[in-house]
Amino acid sequence: MDFNEHTATRAVQESFRDTPDPRLRELLDALTRHLHAFVGEVRPSIGEWEQAIKFLTAVGQTCTDTRQEFVLLSDVMGVSMLVETLNEHEDGTEGTVLGPFHMVESPPRALGDSIDLIGEAQPCLVAGSVLSSDGNLLPDAEVDVWQCNEKGFYDVQQPGVQPSGNGRGLFHTDSAGRFRFRTVLPSHYPIPTDGPVGRLLTAAGRHPYRPAHIHFIVQAEGHTPLTTHVFVAGSPYLDSDAVFAVKQSLICDFTESNDAETAARNGVQAPFRHAEFDFILSRKLT
Ligand SMILES: [Fe+2]
Repeated sequence: MDFNEHTATRAVQESFRDTPDPRLRELLDALTRHLHAFVGEVRPSIGEWEQAIKFLTAVGQTCTDTRQEFVLLSDVMGVSMLVETLNEHEDGTEGTVLGPFHMVESPPRALGDSIDLIGEAQPCLVAGSVLSSDGNLLPDAEVDVWQCNEKGFYDVQQPGVQPSGNGRGLFHTDSAGRFRFRTVLPSHYPIPTDGPVGRLLTAAGRHPYRPAHIHFIVQAEGHTPLTTHVFVAGSPYLDSDAVFAVKQSLICDFTESNDAETAARNGVQAPFRHAEFDFILSRKLT
C-alpha cells in the first residue's frame, strides 16, 4: 500500500498495532489520528513544519533545573488545566495547575514559621484546616506551599536577589488538623515571556499575566493528593488568567487587620493581612 494522504493515518496506526501495553497502544493510536487530522486540516508548508519543530526544540532547550518551559506550554494551551479537571474528585477542594515553579523541594518548616525570608513587605498570616471528605480533621497532613514575593517573582527566578527557599515551606498539620504560617501577600505576575512560550503569546496578542495566588500540594494518608492554588480576592487578572487556572471556589479574602493582639501572638507587626482557607481531601477508594 502506497503511503499517501489517504493511507497515511491507517499505516501509522497499523505500525503501533502490536504495542504490548494496551494503554500505550490506545494513546499512540489516538495521538496518530488526532495529529494526522490536524496536519490534514491545516496543510502546513514544509517551512511551517520546520518552524513548528524549531519551536518545540526551543521549548526543550529553554528547560533547566529551575525552569520548565514544557509545563508552561501545556499551561498556556489549557492542557494542564484540562487534565487537572478531568482527574478531579467531586467531594474535595477543587484542584488547579501545578505550574512551572515547583522545581525545588520546599524546605521543611514548623507551624507558624515565616516563608518570607526577606521581611521587608507587609506580613500576611495564612491558616486553615485539612479535612477528609468524610468531615474528619486530618492531623499530620503535609501542606507544601510555594508562592512569588510581593513583586511577583519566585526565588528560582531571582538567584542572588532572593535567598533559595524564599516563599516556600513544607508544613505538617497539628493534632487538630490545623496549619498556619507567615508570609507576604503574593503579587499578580507575568509568566516568563523571554522564551518560546512568551513569543507565542506575543504573536497571538495574549497577555502573560496570572492573578495573585499561593500554590499548595496537600497530602494525607489514605487520601488523594490535592494540587491547587488559593487566589487573592480582588487581584487583577482573576477573569483572564494566562493559564486558565482560576476557579471561583479557590478565591479567598486576604483581609487587612490592625489587631495588635493577633499581630503580637503571631510575631508580626500590624497592620497585616490574613487569610483562612480549609482544604478537603478526597478519600482514596480501597
Ligand atoms: Fe504561581
